[in-house]
Amino acid sequence: MQPSHKKPRNVSSTPDATTTEKRGEAGSGEAEQGEAGSVTEHHYFAGLDLTGKRVVVVGAGTVAQRRVPRLINSGARVEVIAPEATPAVEAMADAGELTWHRRTYAAGDLTGAWYVVACATGSEVNAAVAAEAEENRIFCVRADDASRGTAVTPAVAQHGGLLLGVLAGGEHRRSAAVRDALVEALRTGVVDECSEPPAAGVALVGGGPGDPDLITVRGRQLLGRADVVITDRLAPRELLEELGPHVEVVDASKIPYGRAANQDVINSLLIEHAKAGKFVVRLKGGDPYLFGRGFEELLACVEAGVAVTAVPGITSAFAAPSAADVPVTHRGVAHEVVVVSGHVGPHDEQSLVDWPALGRLRGTIVLMMGVKRIAEFAAVLTEHGRDPKSPVAVVQEGTTRNQKTLRTTLGEVAEAIREADVKPPAVIVIGPVADLAPESRR
Ligand SMILES: C[S@@+](CC[C@H](N)C(=O)[O-])C[C@H]1O[C@@H](n2cnc3c(N)ncnc32)[C@H](O)[C@@H]1O
Repeated sequence: MQPSHKKPRNVSSTPDATTTEKRGEAGSGEAEQGEAGSVTEHHYFAGLDLTGKRVVVVGAGTVAQRRVPRLINSGARVEVIAPEATPAVEAMADAGELTWHRRTYAAGDLTGAWYVVACATGSEVNAAVAAEAEENRIFCVRADDASRGTAVTPAVAQHGGLLLGVLAGGEHRRSAAVRDALVEALRTGVVDECSEPPAAGVALVGGGPGDPDLITVRGRQLLGRADVVITDRLAPRELLEELGPHVEVVDASKIPYGRAANQDVINSLLIEHAKAGKFVVRLKGGDPYLFGRGFEELLACVEAGVAVTAVPGITSAFAAPSAADVPVTHRGVAHEVVVVSGHVGPHDEQSLVDWPALGRLRGTIVLMMGVKRIAEFAAVLTEHGRDPKSPVAVVQEGTTRNQKTLRTTLGEVAEAIREADVKPPAVIVIGPVADLAPESRR
């Protein structure tokens, strides 16, 4: 096929060139220069509705692996033609998400196709595919030499129902950088995508274990749109600095009265603000539903007829150990992990924990809120069979700059915690996984 006279020949237009997506491979022409000295992008931008349409992907390597999921999500009927496939592409075929023809491409394979991606290993195959596509007026992306295709793949990102695409004349890093910057600007509210104020209601947002970067994208988006933020002691406090001056911040950890009354006050605040037309974010540490009383808040909102949504968060139960090189499971070491609350002692009548069963457990125990009564927990576990030599890792303020890790054994943990003056918040990991960190990283 003849490339258009305007088409820059020396570049690939896909943003994420891999080994099979080469830049400047076969082109001989000079790319046009834009005003800023960079390549002029000449493509026509359009959103294709591929629902139910036949899309052919020739090749099933890592390029196909990256292109195919978005094609599947768009509703296309994806057919992959390749003698071999990466395990990920094969898994998509096994799951029925695409049809895989295990053979090499043959002329006529594009009949009935609306869109083609040529990403075979050999450029001769890609050239043949592109030629057949051209003859049949089917748009074709050529992964090995974008300038010889009739379509290119932009750097794309999804954000809250938006699909962003950036083309930069084959300057992959530039298009990816612009895309990332746009997403970040949307995420942090620097670009306000919504002219409409958010609807009144409550979002229960898991803020993650402490590091402000460990909140989810959705959680951060909602936080950026809040009128009122009701926050907890363990929610990442740096996130509050990003809020606009108009946002009312209520520090729930400072609400007086006992624990139960406290929760009633918080529930009422959520409901009152939402009923006054505000969008309220209830920002919590970790995940809202893991020892976070988030579900009580959801029930209270539902009962009061207030719209409520929950955004999961990364729980400290797993993130704090992970940040200290403690995997809560490990092949051949631990096939089970139990997360336990130590907010009441093992013999307290309010306790719902089967401590004798935990004493018999071989796997990992992650004890939360357990610092104060660690001597009681260690005693009940050893009494019911857990080896006092079981390794223990105590991770205080995991993922924050104050993170500290103490490594000891079950028999010695109470004394070690006292000596090291460990303070909440901390998770206590009991089991062989607590002793797997390489010496050089302790
Ligand atoms: C009321 S629970 C809340 C748990 C939270 N919903 C979560 O998913 O992480 C509080 C306990 O979580 C643990 N915790 C929270 N943040 C922590 C952190 N950064 N490092 C270690 N432990 C933490 C401590 O055991 C603390 O006592």
